[in-house]
Amino acid sequence: MATTIEELEKRRELARLGGGEKRIAAQHAKGRLTARERLSVLLDRGSFEEYDMFVEHNCADFGMETQKIPGDGVVTGSGTINGRLVYVFAQDFTVFGGSLSERHAQKICKIMDMAMKVGAPVIGLNDSGGARIQEGVASLGGYAEVFQRNVLASGVVPQLSLIMGPCAGGAVYSPAMTDFIFMVKDSSYMFVTGPDVVKTVTNEVVTQEELGGAVTHTTKSGVADVAFENDIDALLATRDFFDFLPLSNRHDLPTRPTDDPFDRVEESLDTLVPPSAATPYDMHELIRKVADEGDFFELQPSHAANIIVGFCRIEGRTVGVVANQPTVLAGCLDINSSKKGARFVRFCDAFDIPILTFVDVPGFLPGVAQEHNGIIKNGAKLLFAYAEATVPKITVITRKAYGGAYDVMASKHLRGDLNYAWPTAEIAVMGAKGAVEIIFRKDAAKPEEIAKRTAEYEERFANPFVAASKGFIDEVIMPHSTRRRVAMGLRKLRDKQLENPWKKHDNIPL
Ligand code: COA
Repeated sequence: MATTIEELEKRRELARLGGGEKRIAAQHAKGRLTARERLSVLLDRGSFEEYDMFVEHNCADFGMETQKIPGDGVVTGSGTINGRLVYVFAQDFTVFGGSLSERHAQKICKIMDMAMKVGAPVIGLNDSGGARIQEGVASLGGYAEVFQRNVLASGVVPQLSLIMGPCAGGAVYSPAMTDFIFMVKDSSYMFVTGPDVVKTVTNEVVTQEELGGAVTHTTKSGVADVAFENDIDALLATRDFFDFLPLSNRHDLPTRPTDDPFDRVEESLDTLVPPSAATPYDMHELIRKVADEGDFFELQPSHAANIIVGFCRIEGRTVGVVANQPTVLAGCLDINSSKKGARFVRFCDAFDIPILTFVDVPGFLPGVAQEHNGIIKNGAKLLFAYAEATVPKITVITRKAYGGAYDVMASKHLRGDLNYAWPTAEIAVMGAKGAVEIIFRKDAAKPEEIAKRTAEYEERFANPFVAASKGFIDEVIMPHSTRRRVAMGLRKLRDKQLENPWKKHDNIPL
């Protein structure tokens, strides 16, 4: 018996070494942790239970039959984060460059299947040279098996991807279909074709970092959500982020005890909106002052920053926040912000996370580029997402809610459950100046007349009371009591029941 236990220990030791000391040192030299080190930061101490440690590839071509490394380039299993179950895989770059073989894919599929059965999120740590070149189509088949599971798991269990090294070619599409992507600056990249192929085909010269680094994807493309300085920062932030998520679409929201009173008064909010309609203010301030302990996890902070999305807690329970940001493009909705908002709203709806919307929106962004690139179809995404959502929806209009954008931003008409407005709200078809220039065009040459009409229009429409008189606003509230109003609303809506008509699925404009 002693020898068999020794034998097991020896085999485990060997498997834990992955591609060996030299390759581990090379990984460290790049500022990256190994797969196992990463899991030890991500998961609660001692919680990791590994599966398939002794799985080997089945390839007999190109001399591979003589090169077998237990685990085959991916460490898989389950563990806990702050005591809650999660399934994980971490690609091991020290073993065949973390490349994906048929067996490597089978290991990932196994933990995804387990996660679906029991209802637990999946976190993938990606660090891979792509398809295992020696295996050819077997490896491509492996990717597609993973893709299929990503799709079936979408909306059932939260899926998170951390990109912590290379992720290129077909490898990008599994993360792309997960709910959130975090990247590490200067050490991770994602692209469908790399700089060399780009140079050959389009003659564009670009570095890996410029083409698909963390900064590129969290600012320009919006493919990824947040960029972190290093592996440790990314992993620790993932732990914090995980605490906001329910385990699956059949689990309740996680709760965190809080001492923050639900009726905390924030006098400073009474002066948040500046007297001049053209002066911006930072919507983050309102979000932080409403959230428990000011804690807000923002997603995509550097992409389409004219809309803010992220999670906070109110009375300890997760809430998804969507807010126009007056400091960027005056808070207008455009193509990117509509897509960003829509995907977030749909995530919240899929996982029964209530949505809190703060509105200060002067309308959709005008421009030829916006129209030609499809603001109509893209703006419709956000409208569609809000309209189909059946989760509790609370909306607070702080200032402008103009035109079609008023409708889109979780208005009463889209089944908003509680629609509040601050006294500073202006709910109208458009701003007074623009309105008067259209309806009194004949007086365009008479500045006094225009000024008089503008003042009249402002007096009539630049307030929340016309909308309130029609019941489109449930109540005009004091800014300082926003947290109390929202908290009480969420309490009432906890057992909300609302179902959409049966259908196979909808046809959201894509
Ligand atoms: N299949 C099989 N082995 C792979 C591999 C792949 N797709 N990608 C990397 N490896 C192996 C390398 O052969 C090397 O093995 P070794 O340690 O025994 O020498 C090891 O992984 C590390 O790769 P290396 O190229 O030395 O690392 P790097 O950091 O310099 O470069 C990449 C990383 C990803 C840029 C580079 O490995 C690469 O271009 N890989 C191929 C990418 C690709 O075309 N994939 C297939 C299409 S999806």
